[in-house]
Amino acid sequence: MSEIVASQQLPPGCQQPPPPTDAERSAFLVVDHVSKVFQSNREMVVALQDFSCSVDAGTFVAIVGPSGCGKSTLLRISAGLAQPTSGAVLVKGKKIEGPGPDRGVVFQSYTSFPWLTVRENVEFGLKLRNISEELRREASRRLIAQVGLSGFENAYPETLSGGMKQRVAIARTLANYPDILIMDEPFGALDYQTRWAMQELLLDVWEKEKKTVLFVTHDIEEALFLADAVIVVSQRPGRVKNTLAIPFERPRVSALKANQDFVAMKTEIVNLVRLEMPPEFGGRR
Ligand SMILES: Nc1ncnc2c1ncn2[C@@H]1O[C@H](COP(=O)(O)OP(=O)(O)OP(=O)(O)O)[C@@H](O)[C@H]1O
Ligand SMILES: [Mg+2]
Repeated sequence: MSEIVASQQLPPGCQQPPPPTDAERSAFLVVDHVSKVFQSNREMVVALQDFSCSVDAGTFVAIVGPSGCGKSTLLRISAGLAQPTSGAVLVKGKKIEGPGPDRGVVFQSYTSFPWLTVRENVEFGLKLRNISEELRREASRRLIAQVGLSGFENAYPETLSGGMKQRVAIARTLANYPDILIMDEPFGALDYQTRWAMQELLLDVWEKEKKTVLFVTHDIEEALFLADAVIVVSQRPGRVKNTLAIPFERPRVSALKANQDFVAMKTEIVNLVRLEMPPEFGGRR
């Protein structure tokens, strides 16, 4: 992977944010007693109830829990794409009221524009902000290299594999220099081997970019491999059931997944999630 261009050479408005203060560090993203109720004509669904957690700056937090427990709802609220019924999500002490460039979102479905090339996709947000072509090119070259897509700058997404499409989505999101990456099962549609490679790539990018990450996955091994902390969400209405600190040293490589302590912790988290699943889906209640 090519060397990262120094941040002072990045486009104006795209500089790395200054290092957070101690106060910001201790509470970079705060989910403060969030509840979300969906009301349709026929029924009312309480997706989240009194959900509280906090994510420190520069840390990687994974969220796991049974299907339908409100994980995506929580991420959508954190991204500003939905409003909580009560409570609030705060980033650096400021209440989130809508989407913003400080939060970059990557979903399971590939979100690149099919009519734009890889380079144009990565540069899209910068173009919207009237960043000069030269600076856009510099930023896209660096990010495309970082996600291992050098040589594919002029390809259209439809000609790329699923893993490559998702790498475009990650590069495109990083191009906007968000403070926090919000990722909802970003590797959920990928095959096992590609998923492993993408996990290592994401850790590599994360270690270089020092982003804060909030990451939802169904794959408990993935959560454990990537994160500093794993939050286990209860069955719906979702609330925090457990928060586990993940002690494994970094940098992490795939061989860690065979480590005895890793496997033991994976089993522990699998069991916590299974307790929240209905018996017909393999739950243990
Ligand atoms: N826009 C909506 N309108 C009505 N109900 C909704 C809406 N979005 C989500 N829900 C409901 O809220 C609950 C939580 O959904 P959510 O998508 O957050 O779960 P999830 O934990 O992400 O599930 P999965 O793991 O399957 O992705 C579900 O019962 C879902 O039906
Ligand atoms: Mg979901």
